[in-house]
Amino acid sequence: MTARRLPAQHDPAERTDPERVRITVDGAELTGPAGSTIAGILLENGRDSWRTTSRDSRPRGVFCGIGVCYDCILTVGAERDVRACQRRACDGDVVSLQEETRPDAAGEGAS
Ligand code: FES
Repeated sequence: MTARRLPAQHDPAERTDPERVRITVDGAELTGPAGSTIAGILLENGRDSWRTTSRDSRPRGVFCGIGVCYDCILTVGAERDVRACQRRACDGDVVSLQEETRPDAAGEGAS
């Protein structure tokens, strides 16, 4: 998946550029339009995956985009397992990515 957002000056709908919110993701400061989800801001900043699966370390980001698959989970503040596609970003949010290995995954071969 490729993140694309049409710049406001090229948008035929003549929308105005919205206010921006600033979030921190694993120490990196990212900005995005106010009202965006955290996933939207990550995508706008070129991040299309932000966690890996516990079994095979496969990259995951937005899959369903409607809060069903939980592929997009991350930690916001002290709250774990937040669905990035459902959480509206608030200015100052501190986001950390979740990496876990299943306790029984050690020693398994790739599949
Ligand atoms: S992308 Fe499926 S729950 Fe967020």
